Amino acid sequence: MSRVVVTGRIPEAALDKLRASHEVDAWEGAESIGREELLRRVAGADAIVSLLTERVDAELLDAAGPQLKIVSNVAVGYDNINVPECTERHVIATNTPGVLTEATADIAFGLILMATRRLGEGERLIRAGQAWKWGMFFLLGSSLQGKTLGVVGMGGIGQATARRAKAFGMEIVYQSRSEIDPSIAEDLGSRRVELDELLAISDVVSLHCPYGPSTHHLIGAEQLATMKDTAYLVNTARGPIVNEAALALALREGQIAGAGLDVFEQEPKVHPWLLELENVSLVPHLGSATVETRTSMAVLAAENTLAVLGGEQPPTPVN
Ligand code: DGY
Repeated sequence: MSRVVVTGRIPEAALDKLRASHEVDAWEGAESIGREELLRRVAGADAIVSLLTERVDAELLDAAGPQLKIVSNVAVGYDNINVPECTERHVIATNTPGVLTEATADIAFGLILMATRRLGEGERLIRAGQAWKWGMFFLLGSSLQGKTLGVVGMGGIGQATARRAKAFGMEIVYQSRSEIDPSIAEDLGSRRVELDELLAISDVVSLHCPYGPSTHHLIGAEQLATMKDTAYLVNTARGPIVNEAALALALREGQIAGAGLDVFEQEPKVHPWLLELENVSLVPHLGSATVETRTSMAVLAAENTLAVLGGEQPPTPVN
């Protein structure tokens, strides 16, 4: 029987799987586990099931000890894990790709609609008790039909967002490290372009690339300046891909028309300049937040853990 430390609350279905054959020490607190408590609990663990709010670095891996075999992240993004440090210690790191693709694309498209149709502004206006009535020019937004969606990062979530955009009558361009399956590109009627062209021609830019040193502040003042002043930016990937201060200035000065953000540079903090603006919709990292999706993510993380503890190859390793 191995010892599995779970760093935060996860669905029972996943805990049951782990408990069937291992000793499970799961943090049950409503708040995130504190760093000191985390370092104390991981000592002697054979497996760590981690949430994206926990930093898995050399300090944590050392605190766990040399018997640690796997860090199983309950997220597709694993920028919270120092993968080279894991590899150096022969610790397998895993993530949960695939199972949250549709849920995250739904939120991306929800934000596209919120931003282009000014839904947040309308909701805030009613809740603030402001007087309003139907008017020919009242809260006019921008239509999506015939417009161009630029997808930055055409993996599963980017493709799922593009499929939704196609159903709304949009043209698709994308920027991607690698070429996608030609039949998918053809079905979507999409075209691969460089980032600078994508920014210049898109009416909506949606970010779906992983976060790392090469995508830190991928979208900053310089890039925002090349976008159309009628364009919108949506980020459901990771906050630090966008320079929030530069985005707030671009939104304030009308350099772009609006934005929708599900992720932030220093979660859970949101840049104070963004909070003052009407033309940005802000939601608290809800991309994968459905009962079904979170259950699938946690179960996949449990399956990765069980595989490694059983001496097998896990379904979704990242190193
Ligand atoms: C992920 O899995 O990386 C998402 O951000 C979680 O919602």
